[in-house]
Amino acid sequence: MEHSTTRAFDLFPEGFVWGAATAAYQVEGAAREDGRGESIWDRYSAGAGNVVDGSSGIVACDSYHRYGEDTRLMRGLGLDAFRLSIAWPRILPDGTGRVNQAGLDHYDRVVDELLASGIDPYVTLYHWDLPQALEDRGGWPVRDTVEAFAEYTEVVAARLGDRVRNWITQNEPWVVSWLGYGLGVHAPGRADERAALAAAHHVLLAHGRAAEVLRREAPTARVGVTIDLVPMYPLTYSDADVDAARRSDGSRNRWFLDPVLGRGYPSDMLEQYASILPAIEDGDLETIAAPLDFLGVNYYTRNVVSAGAEAATTSVVETAGAEHTDMGWEVYPDGLTDLLARLHREYELPDLYITENGAAFADDRRNGNVPDPQRISYLERHLVALGAAIAEGVPVRGYFLWSLLDNFEWALGYTKRFGIVYVDFDSLERVPKASYAWYRNFIAATRSARV
Ligand code: FCB
Repeated sequence: MEHSTTRAFDLFPEGFVWGAATAAYQVEGAAREDGRGESIWDRYSAGAGNVVDGSSGIVACDSYHRYGEDTRLMRGLGLDAFRLSIAWPRILPDGTGRVNQAGLDHYDRVVDELLASGIDPYVTLYHWDLPQALEDRGGWPVRDTVEAFAEYTEVVAARLGDRVRNWITQNEPWVVSWLGYGLGVHAPGRADERAALAAAHHVLLAHGRAAEVLRREAPTARVGVTIDLVPMYPLTYSDADVDAARRSDGSRNRWFLDPVLGRGYPSDMLEQYASILPAIEDGDLETIAAPLDFLGVNYYTRNVVSAGAEAATTSVVETAGAEHTDMGWEVYPDGLTDLLARLHREYELPDLYITENGAAFADDRRNGNVPDPQRISYLERHLVALGAAIAEGVPVRGYFLWSLLDNFEWALGYTKRFGIVYVDFDSLERVPKASYAWYRNFIAATRSARV
């Protein structure tokens, strides 16, 4: 029995959306079925040494076939909403041109199943599985990929726009561009700063173009984009450390937030990147600043940074005595309150949703149970932090826990478990963890607190 340790459940207003999130490549499997094309993650995970345990998403949680069971698990939680992503290579196996009806039929069934269960689908159009055919033509660093994304968006919106109301164009543009093209630790594994900045610009443009397409194809659509935000704390108050925090915040947070929220690229960072900037054409910033119905925020941790040994470099510092998840990420709930308060103070905000928050721990199955007190504690403290921001007036309308299921954690394969449902990756059996019951009870308590 978990004891309640907080009254945070009464901080969430009427209509607050409780959800959970997954992404196509991480859970679906069925990578070679029903006409799906190859994605950059299929190609990348097949490369020796790219994924730590040599695994891939070829089977993953097999949610492609087990979405009925997964939906029942969501219903058991009492979720209002589920955030899923669509695999572009299932819809347009070659990236553009030929549409694969079997792929559309699949998501049609998934959406209907959710709606029949009273669960509102929040659909992410791009959660990192670019068709390999487009990467072969240059990928995100190439401007044509923007129009390919608009074409894909149009096909999906035409099919699902009558039932899906909430759309997230892009997930975590920093990760797509820097981990994929700048640092080479995610698919497609390229390490070139210029390519990363070009990719970032095109991912943002693709967001803006998709917003236009969605509004045309699905007039009732609510359009959003999800940005991963990491608040940066200087190690000391020295000028050098404070400046290092400014630069880190600039590249990680402001480079994406500012243009999306209508401010253009931040001038300090334009200066820093001057020699490696991509072509920014007339009208691009207007496209990127397309009106938003909501902004999705993914929050996991903060960074403490100091000035690096060489000029204009920074290093991320291990915080002494801090608590960490299995990802090595510091557990820092106050960072969520700080971050949200700052967004509220410095920007004109649309509605906000926490589109991801959660923690990996090394969970074990013991006689059919999976006790995960550290995850419960992480979640509880982050919901307290979120409640505090809401109490200060930050317009947060919903929370999506990452993740419903243990799944394929990208370059870390199946070695990190983020789920509130344990997945046995041999039998594909799902076993709700203690945090599943905890989340169900918390959600129920927020509802009874309102009456
Ligand atoms: C985020 C990703 C998500 C998942 C979590 C742990 O960066 O959007 O797919 O991997 O991290």
